[in-house]
Amino acid sequence: MKKIETRINDKSKSLLDALREDGHFLPAYCGGRGTCGKCKVRFLTEAPKADDRQQSCLSNQEIEDGWRLACLTYVDGSCVMEVPDYREDEIAAADSFAADELAAIGSPDVNANRAAADSTGHGHSFEGTALAIDLGTTTIAASLVNISDGAAFHTVTCLNHQRSYGADVLSRIDAANKGEGRRLQGLVMDDLSYLCRQLGIAEQIQDVNIPVIISGNTTMEHLLQGLSCQGLGLYPFTPVDISLHSYGNMTILPGISTYVGADIVSGILACDIDRREQVSILVDLGTNGEMLIGNKDRILATSTAAGPAFEGGNISCGLAGIPGAIDTVHIEDGQTRITTIAGSAPVGICGTGVLETVYELVKEEIVDETGLLDDAWFEEGYPLAEGITFSAKDIREVQLAKSAIRAGIEILLVSYGITYDQVDRLYLAGGFGQKINCHKAVGIGMLPEELADRIVAVGNSSMNGACMFAANPELADRFHHITEISEEINLSNHKLFNDLYLEHMFFYL
Ligand code: FES
Repeated sequence: MKKIETRINDKSKSLLDALREDGHFLPAYCGGRGTCGKCKVRFLTEAPKADDRQQSCLSNQEIEDGWRLACLTYVDGSCVMEVPDYREDEIAAADSFAADELAAIGSPDVNANRAAADSTGHGHSFEGTALAIDLGTTTIAASLVNISDGAAFHTVTCLNHQRSYGADVLSRIDAANKGEGRRLQGLVMDDLSYLCRQLGIAEQIQDVNIPVIISGNTTMEHLLQGLSCQGLGLYPFTPVDISLHSYGNMTILPGISTYVGADIVSGILACDIDRREQVSILVDLGTNGEMLIGNKDRILATSTAAGPAFEGGNISCGLAGIPGAIDTVHIEDGQTRITTIAGSAPVGICGTGVLETVYELVKEEIVDETGLLDDAWFEEGYPLAEGITFSAKDIREVQLAKSAIRAGIEILLVSYGITYDQVDRLYLAGGFGQKINCHKAVGIGMLPEELADRIVAVGNSSMNGACMFAANPELADRFHHITEISEEINLSNHKLFNDLYLEHMFFYL
């Protein structure tokens, strides 16, 4: 636990806002709406009264022990509290390159990008080096890249501290449009500075003029550049600028639309989808659930309202891929076996663990096909480790997310006018702490059984595309071509969406 002592003079401000202004960042997945229960603090001095909304989120014992939700708590004067300390600086990024998997299917630039894990930036001359950044909604990753071959020789990651304004892009857009844009820009700049210090290039980045390549979703790129987010949150969802452009030594990669950003364009390039005759599907299980289908001539892309369940968001004991996050789960004959990232004591459950838990609960018939958790666990949730349970509401969150993703895939296929047997590969990308178990993803119905033998988990394909650009700026033409041949479809307007969404809510093993 981390102790915080503070004095608050403005009692119209929530404790969450006051702590944020003081430089203390609590997870606030719901953006301060009092629904996610993530912004918990424990008062060591007298705790303010908990209102009805807090009483529905916190147990009686928690309230008695001084726990409160910071976003619903108002303090006047000094107080001392403690908050869980999750070692978030040690967040584990997905393998950026998934080189073996991609090489196995013949993607040409992959071996050049294989990371040399034992190298670091410290003491390096930085001649011939670029910095590639995957600017994610939840996680930011930065890699030093050898520009002669695109090999990343040192990668560091951190959580995006904007998440204290909410887990998804809509919360960030909302905050920016309420006057917090500069603050959000400052937070991401601070995160990038932190990563540069970790890489040992904080000073050199200006002096040596290291090229910097940024790949992120459209909202993250807008916030970084200080562009207005007014058009992003309102129909017809018009971005200010999503073209490829440069500021000095920094290049911002291009996106397709407000909800299909440069991270996906980078993924298309990294998986070589834009150069092949065969049709592929790419699904990015990041916070925004972006996906596409296409080949060298035509690409259809969309994003789903899948939410951040597969990044640990909206899950009661969910968190990012930090040491101690449960990442694999196996349940058999009433025995539960788990592993955690870095083998640390369990502190919560990350995205891969979320998916595996649901698969195992369904397999063991502890959850039925409608998503109902067995009576024995219904009230308290299914226990995974001491103090870590998976609740009926968590299962519901996964149902909503997986059916949105599956319905999205089905609609892409129908809109493209082909059937599953005409799809060459399904690439699964995501910034998980560990790579997703494709068998279990098919098992819960998130991915189609018909493609089970053609699924390739590619890790962080957004970063891979940025590294490729770092090695070869002439890829600007390919980036441009991808945006030219890509078209966005809006799932919520599609006539089949509601039926497919309901149909895929069920679990069939
Ligand atoms: S409950 Fe406070 S931020 Fe979500």
